[in-house]
Amino acid sequence: MAIPITVNRKKRMVEAEGDKPLLWVLREDLDMPGTKFGCGAGLCGACTVILDGVAVRSCQTPIADAAGKQITTIEGVSALPVGKKVVEAWLDIDVPQCGYCQAGQIMSATALLTQTPKPSADDILGGMNGNICRCATYVRIEKAIRKAAG
Ligand code: FES
Repeated sequence: MAIPITVNRKKRMVEAEGDKPLLWVLREDLDMPGTKFGCGAGLCGACTVILDGVAVRSCQTPIADAAGKQITTIEGVSALPVGKKVVEAWLDIDVPQCGYCQAGQIMSATALLTQTPKPSADDILGGMNGNICRCATYVRIEKAIRKAAG
């Protein structure tokens, strides 16, 4: 079926089954590989995108549920004022090690700071909960979030 979606402010029409995960629509149908596949089970956060301001696991989000909503991916996050600050802080702090999980981390951090501009340590823990980093860059992630929060 043809499904209208909006990705990074651009309207797109995708031909897909409604239960196809948004992750695979982005990667396979829209040629946007920035959103990563980790576990495919909602457990690692590598596939995180922002849907109408909320961080979601795109591997667990049927494309039909994203129809008519604003989808933001790592490719478009810098166009958001908060996302731009997050990306700049990530670069300043030099957060990534292998980098695989970092798109998801940045998307969760952007959603967190959009909802909670001055997060407490508990807010950061809560907002980033479930975004796993096998290189354990967590200390730098927290520093970058604090820097982006100003
Ligand atoms: Fe979606 Fe791991 S790939 S949460």
